[in-house]
Amino acid sequence: MDNSDRNRKIKICKAGPYRVTGDVPLLEKIIVPKGNGYVYEEGRQLPQSGQYLLCRCGRSKNAPFCDGAHIKTGFIGEETASREKFEDRADLLKGPGIDLMDDHRCALARFCHREKGTVWDLLKHSDQEDLRQEVIQGATECPAGRLVPRDRQGNVLEPQYKPAVTVLQDPENGVSGGIFVQGGIPVESADGSLYETCNRVVLCRCGRSINKPFCDAMHIAVKFTDKKPRNI
Ligand code: FES
Repeated sequence: MDNSDRNRKIKICKAGPYRVTGDVPLLEKIIVPKGNGYVYEEGRQLPQSGQYLLCRCGRSKNAPFCDGAHIKTGFIGEETASREKFEDRADLLKGPGIDLMDDHRCALARFCHREKGTVWDLLKHSDQEDLRQEVIQGATECPAGRLVPRDRQGNVLEPQYKPAVTVLQDPENGVSGGIFVQGGIPVESADGSLYETCNRVVLCRCGRSINKPFCDAMHIAVKFTDKKPRNI
């Protein structure tokens, strides 16, 4: 473990931005429809830095970075999400070929919509190998980490992603999405405690989620776009 691994963290600043440390790559990806499903396309090249501040209030005019707008707007950003572990929050859904854990934390990224049906539809036919693979792919492409596929022995069937922070864009809905955090980057609350480390999770960046710091797809309801932040 080198120094950047040790420093790798996303710190939630009280009433302010996310401070990302430890040389974490910053990317942008665009959610694009393809057939009955969705794929990621590469977005803009964003400036890279050993540490950076990402807007959490949704009002920055320099998104995805913080420009201090949270102070002028009186952003509170209280963290409201349950601290219970995924395993304890999630339902276990059983299929004939595979099981799925589902914690219902949805960022409406729609990767669970597959060519031949939703992941939940396909789960019922997961004794067919091609559909079992579709369930795994649909579940593990979900940025929110809502769905985790498991074999009969309870082993998690997903690749370990490399640490990265990705801002999402959703032009089909005319909105900007949350911040996709991959690869087990620790997320530290403003109160100093750590959230459960996840391979995949989406953090809110529109400032309006009722499940902060996590995305609950509110960016769609409030029509959040980082190209035209609401006036202060
Ligand atoms: S959190 Fe600082 S501008 Fe949004």
